Amino acid sequence: MKEKLIGIKDESMQLLNEVKTIKDIDELKVKYLGKKGEITQILKGMKDLSKEERPVMGALVNEVREEIEKALEDKKAELNEKILEKKLHDERIDVTLKTDDIVLGHRHPLKKTLEDLEDLFTHMGFTVYDGPEIETVENNFDLLNAPKDHPSRDMSDTFYFDKNTILRSQTSPVQIRAMKEHGAPIRMICSGRVFRSDEVDATHSPMFHQLEGLVVDEKISVANLIDTLNYFVKAFFGEEVKTRFRPHYFPFTEPSLEVDTTCTSCGGKGCSACNHTGWSMELLGCGMVHPNVLRNCGIDPEKYSGFAFGMGIDRIAMVRYKITDIRMMFENNKKFLEQF
Ligand code: DAH
Repeated sequence: MKEKLIGIKDESMQLLNEVKTIKDIDELKVKYLGKKGEITQILKGMKDLSKEERPVMGALVNEVREEIEKALEDKKAELNEKILEKKLHDERIDVTLKTDDIVLGHRHPLKKTLEDLEDLFTHMGFTVYDGPEIETVENNFDLLNAPKDHPSRDMSDTFYFDKNTILRSQTSPVQIRAMKEHGAPIRMICSGRVFRSDEVDATHSPMFHQLEGLVVDEKISVANLIDTLNYFVKAFFGEEVKTRFRPHYFPFTEPSLEVDTTCTSCGGKGCSACNHTGWSMELLGCGMVHPNVLRNCGIDPEKYSGFAFGMGIDRIAMVRYKITDIRMMFENNKKFLEQF
């Protein structure tokens, strides 16, 4: 039995020297140490030995078993190490290798202008509201006091889905939504896309952007309107820029006004950019909210009054960045966009 044991040990060590894979090692483990393995068989045969022989052989079998176990484990660790080394070698990445440059994008000039405007107005205490681009005719026209025969309601001027639903032609319906939802007092702005059935040219697009503002409270007067808008113009365009308020007509305000600013090219002296008038084209429309509009939204015009204003953001961005054609803003041309 002892010789057999020595034989098993020698044979296992020899076979272990020849293994190539982890699987080979596992097979050897089964061959010697498994349930039907050779060492296990010897242990089973111990019962036939004499009382004296049993402890001596027992110690020897355990010794051989431990030796084989350790040899198998060592070999396994050695092989694993080799596998890892090969993997590290084969999958090596050259981090100094030149790859394509990753180009980071940046804000679109229009988005930047919009965010700066929103920043300014929120600092002035306005809350930013949002409204849908698909609007009801009621919110876009009726509740804004736009008479049924107003030309802006014409089928050819606006995009109708059906007779009650349109792509909003202005951001003013968001005023209606805000007043209906929150009542007075209120101080809000909103912005977004608006749509009109316009022919495309350098200054017109069937889709453009507006920013709208509304203040309703007790004792709001034209003085508040003028002061707020003057503050906005100077903070946004520069201390030196002056404003001019001209009478105008909007159905939802009474009185209604349009605001011009001194020409940003010549500072008001007169140049070819401003047709030698010293004034830029109108910046925004505004006025005192018509009592009918307040009433339509459940606000008592005897107690509350308010002012509102609306401006085209595309035009402001164009003046700010000296962009001469509105189409460039929507063409997604990288050469154009990279300039900002
Ligand atoms: N909605 C107007 C337009 O599209 C702009 C405007 C004018 C908005 C006067 C207002 C306002 O809130 O008070 O031309």
